[in-house]
Amino acid sequence: MQKSILITGGAGFIGSHVVRHFVHTYPEYRIIVLDKLTYAGNLANLADMEGKANYFFEKTDIADETAVSEIFAKHRVDAVLHLAAESHVDRSITHPLEFIQTNVIGTANLLNAARKQWTSGDHLFYQISTDEVYGSLGAEGKFTEMTPYDPRSPYSASKASADHFVRAYGHTYGLPVVLSNCSNNYGPFQFPEKLIPLMINNIIQEKPLPVYGDGSNVRDWLWVGDHVKAIDLIFHQGKNGETYNIGGDNELSNLRLLHILCDQMDQKLDKTQGTARKLITFIKDRPGHDKRYAIDAGKLKTELGWRPETNFENGIEQTIDWYLSNREWLENIISGEYMHYYQQQYHT
Ligand code: NAD
Ligand code: TYD
Repeated sequence: MQKSILITGGAGFIGSHVVRHFVHTYPEYRIIVLDKLTYAGNLANLADMEGKANYFFEKTDIADETAVSEIFAKHRVDAVLHLAAESHVDRSITHPLEFIQTNVIGTANLLNAARKQWTSGDHLFYQISTDEVYGSLGAEGKFTEMTPYDPRSPYSASKASADHFVRAYGHTYGLPVVLSNCSNNYGPFQFPEKLIPLMINNIIQEKPLPVYGDGSNVRDWLWVGDHVKAIDLIFHQGKNGETYNIGGDNELSNLRLLHILCDQMDQKLDKTQGTARKLITFIKDRPGHDKRYAIDAGKLKTELGWRPETNFENGIEQTIDWYLSNREWLENIISGEYMHYYQQQYHT
């Protein structure tokens, strides 16, 4: 039977990789992308999908209840892969209400449309979430699926709230749901407000590399392609009502990461070693900056056989190469709203 799968946020960073993977791997599925095309959504990320027989695009806001219901009816949606979100912590600090609107209200609208339409048959609502809902770790320990939620930024609070609604719809209405909480992704098509592409762009432009605080905060970095493989496995084999943590077993302090990035960039740009490192500038810390995230992905590994396959050295080289050979994509982004955002955020 042909399945209609709604991928929300499909024009964003992770979403575009998920769409590409599903369109290519499952020609028997109809893939419908629902995206508002915010500053972070970009049809250029999906340019190679144009004209594919099983790909459809709908420019829609998930916070618009009527529009969401219409999409469900029009496409007879069987399953949802929900990635649409306001996703940047710094923006959530300056504009928290936009995060409630999209991440909480928008998710509730999708759940409600699914509840109304899915009266019988084989369905799934898959919520793509973040490890940030678990809060911040000290030097030891890792987040498991049993770690209590303790969100500390408006972004993570809005994602945590959305996750709770997804579980509540599972419990209360019997909606088939599954969730995954993933660590920091990196790779091609990531918007240059996030650490790695922001630094790559600034190194290209020989601009200062703004490190919050002392650079000792730790993140676990996962190659986006490994996240997509985990999403595919969980979508097809995850158990109803379950949560799966996804992580890269790749913890790096921001400063260590930046050193690796700077050294590789010097090599790629034929500069003397140490050139990019000289651009590192320590700036005022992010308010409420979470110290460390680390994921125990044991459940996903044991139950579904997933492993991260791309190591950081290889992944970061592929990422740098992509940004260097897609300068036009980068130029188009940094010429518009981004300039304004950058000036406000970094007081330049
Ligand atoms: P992104 O910001 O690159 O893309 C978000 C997409 O959602 C964009 O295409 C945007 O246009 C769309 N969108 C935003 N508001 C919308 C609305 N109201 N209606 C419809 N579409 C809307 O984000 P990303 O980094 O690709 O993250 C995707 C998902 O994965 C998010 O739910 C995020 O919380 C989660 N996640 C991200 C990471 C990461 O490291 N990037 C890690 C774990 C989980
Ligand atoms: P980010 O990519 O925003 O992801 P998140 O906050 O969701 O983990 O930031 C990753 C880390 O890099 C985080 O500890 C904040 C830090 N950071 C900087 O030091 N400078 C920057 O300009 C940015 C954007 C992030």
